[in-house]
Amino acid sequence: MGTRGREIVGENLPRILELLNKAFADEWLAYYQYWIGAKVVQGPMKDAVIAELLQHAADELRHADMVTARIIQLGGTPVTSPAEWLKWSNCGYDAPDDPFVQKILQQNISGEQCAINVYNSIIQEIGMKDPVTYNLAVQILQDEVEHEEDLQALLEDLGVFLKK
Ligand SMILES: [Fe+2]
Ligand SMILES: [Fe+2]
Repeated sequence: MGTRGREIVGENLPRILELLNKAFADEWLAYYQYWIGAKVVQGPMKDAVIAELLQHAADELRHADMVTARIIQLGGTPVTSPAEWLKWSNCGYDAPDDPFVQKILQQNISGEQCAINVYNSIIQEIGMKDPVTYNLAVQILQDEVEHEEDLQALLEDLGVFLKK
């Protein structure tokens, strides 16, 4: 990264890299949880749910890409081993062992609510100490808010469907 670009981050660099690597681990776990959930899900409205889960998986992978680009730009090292993901993660991993559509949607809604909290707290903590990371976190937060909304809409549709 350019020297001036790194200078403006100053003494906040170690903490920013820590926050970014924790978010990076979250994104990979979220990606996999959606991806494997789309493979195993069963129940009503399965096709609509699979399409949404795969779209979200693609978004989480894109987020991992955005976060790691910033880590590298700041001279840091992204977490290099999947074995480290759970140690770094804020939100953990919820295995879709119960493949029922409602259960998988609920698990992923909880995951999105955790992601919203994580990016919101990054935005609050970093603020203008690092405007580039701040902007990154705002962009990702917008997607996570949409993800929660999409999943809750599906769950609502499913509720109507199940009552009939
Ligand atoms: Fe994400
Ligand atoms: Fe998400």
